[in-house]
Amino acid sequence: MTTVTVRTPAKINLGLSVGRPRADGYHPLATVYQAIALYDEVKARPAEAGEFTVSVTGEGQDDVPLDDTNLAVRAAQLLAKRAQVDEGVALSIHKLIAVAGGLAGGSSNAAAALLACDALWGLHSSREELAELAVELGSDVPFCLVGGNAIGTGRGEAVSSVLARGSYEWVLAYAATGLSTPQVYAEFDRLDAAGADDEPEVPEALISALRTGDPYAVGMALRNDLQPATIRLRPAVRRTLEFGDEFGALGAIVSGSGPTCLFLAADSEHAIDIAVALSSSGVCRSVQRANGPVPGARIVT
Ligand code: C5P
Repeated sequence: MTTVTVRTPAKINLGLSVGRPRADGYHPLATVYQAIALYDEVKARPAEAGEFTVSVTGEGQDDVPLDDTNLAVRAAQLLAKRAQVDEGVALSIHKLIAVAGGLAGGSSNAAAALLACDALWGLHSSREELAELAVELGSDVPFCLVGGNAIGTGRGEAVSSVLARGSYEWVLAYAATGLSTPQVYAEFDRLDAAGADDEPEVPEALISALRTGDPYAVGMALRNDLQPATIRLRPAVRRTLEFGDEFGALGAIVSGSGPTCLFLAADSEHAIDIAVALSSSGVCRSVQRANGPVPGARIVT
């Protein structure tokens, strides 16, 4: 029996500038995405016409919905509908990316399902065609298809490449439980009521730091406008971030809407030191290390 396996990376935001909500409720963003080497794997197997199922193992498996609200299932259904395919699919997801952690785990699974079902059904859609469907599925899904480093504008879905050098060593601190992205944006609105711009911009310092490939400069230029909102909802995040200073991280920041915290290390040995110290600190549930950038969704079988 044919099985297609696709691996997709987690995303982090090195810069996340957030504007005042638009008429449709979404917030205009100017973000710098980076895909990191922390992967979920999605397998697609043939199923009866109209049958779309999903099973989940690994990190946070009990928190992932198994019905039609699962983003990977929605991706498969959307592709079947658009391509007028009369087939179903049995998806199985193995997760390393934290659920509701600000790492685009669900979006990553949606991107994987698009690519896997496209191959399983022999559709040969172009990357552009898949990207159009990705936009409908969520703001981060188009980036999860391409990976690397990219600037995201609009609500994050308009992805363009960014000139960047270097490879970066990250340590991720997972929190005990996840956070809902809409809840964090709502808290951002409460905190920032009149302060946010209509047209947020990517910080110039971050773009020039990425051009030089100097992790020290990148560490100093990291920025996340959602961070105060995340800390309001999850005060323990502040303590986790402070830990970065104690261990000489080049930068410490909340990932996306959080509550995962990111620490930038000078090199892989430094990353191991930070990871070991974090693991025994009690300030987080678990620790992951990952370097970036890496490419987006890829078929591995
Ligand atoms: O696009 P996606 O479905 O991933 O977004 C999840 C939620 O996050 C949205 O329903 C919205 O509440 C919030 N969001 C936002 N502005 C964005 C992206 C997401 O307010 N640019």
